[in-house]
Amino acid sequence: MSDPVQAEREQMLVDTVVRSFDGAPDDRLKQVMQTVTRHVHAAARELRLTETEWNTMIDFLTRTGQTCTDTRQEFILLSDVLGLSMQVIGMNNPPVADATEATVFGPFFVDGAPAIQQGGDMSFGAAGEPCWVRGTVRGTDGRPVVGARIEVWEADEDGLYDVQYDDDRTAARAHLFSDDNGAFRFWGLTPTPYPIPHDGPVGSMLAAVGRSPMRASHLHFMVTADGYRRLVTHIFVDGDEIGWKDAVFGVKESLIKQFVRREGVPTPDGRAVSTWSEVTFDIVLAPSP
Ligand code: BEZ
Ligand code: FE
Repeated sequence: MSDPVQAEREQMLVDTVVRSFDGAPDDRLKQVMQTVTRHVHAAARELRLTETEWNTMIDFLTRTGQTCTDTRQEFILLSDVLGLSMQVIGMNNPPVADATEATVFGPFFVDGAPAIQQGGDMSFGAAGEPCWVRGTVRGTDGRPVVGARIEVWEADEDGLYDVQYDDDRTAARAHLFSDDNGAFRFWGLTPTPYPIPHDGPVGSMLAAVGRSPMRASHLHFMVTADGYRRLVTHIFVDGDEIGWKDAVFGVKESLIKQFVRREGVPTPDGRAVSTWSEVTFDIVLAPSP
C-alpha cells in the first residue's frame, strides 16, 4: 500500500479489532482470535482483495459448510488440501527417536470395525488384489508391544471406501491385536490410487487451480496401546504413480514401503490365490507424552 494515510487507516482498523478481544476470559481463545484477525487482515491487505473476490470467498465457504453431512466433512477436506492438516499433525506429533511417523487421518475411519484374528482377511469381499501385510509393534526401547490395537482401513480397487457405497456394507476395514511377540499379520488389498471426494466446492477449487484430487496409494493404520502415543498413519506403495503429488501432502519417505508382487508363488498361509502382494510394516510407538 503506497498511500501512507490509507495504510494507517487500515492498520487502525486491525488494531481496533484485535483489541476488541482483549477482555476474553479464556486466554487461549483470545490469542487465537487476535492472531487469526491479524493474519486474515494481512492477507486481505496484501491481496488488495476486491469486494467481488470477498463475496466469492464467502460463497465458497458457505457451499463448503452446506456440503457437510454426517458422513461428509468438506471443511476437513479443505484443511487437508491446504496442507493444514499435515502441518497440525506434524506440530503435535514431533519426531521421537525412531517412532513411526504420523500422517493425515482422512474422513473414512469408522469406529467399531469388525475384529479379525491374526492372518484374517480385512477385505471382507472388497474388490482388489490380495495383499499379505505383516509386521511388529515395538516401543522406542525396542520392546514388543503386546496387545496393541491395530485398526486398518483402505479403499477398494475402484477407489471407493465401503461408506461411499449406497448399501450398508462393511468391507476393507477391521481391527486386530498384536500377538505375544508384538507381531501382526493379515490379508488386505494391494492399495491403488484414488481421488478424494471432488464433487463439491473443494474439488471445484482444485480443478480451478489445476490440481489433481488423487491420493497416493495407501493403507491406513491407527495403533493404540496403553502407555504409548496414539499413532495415526498410512503406508504408501513404493513406485506409486501419484507418490509425492498426493493431494493432501500426506506422503513421508519413511512410510513408503515395498509391496512385492507375487505370481504363482504359494502364500504364507496356504491361501489359494495366484497373484498377490506382500508388505512388511514394522511399527514403533512413541511413549505417551
Ligand atoms: C483418505 O486417505 O482417506 C483421505 C485423506 C484426506 C482426504 C480425503 C481422503
Ligand atoms: Fe485413504
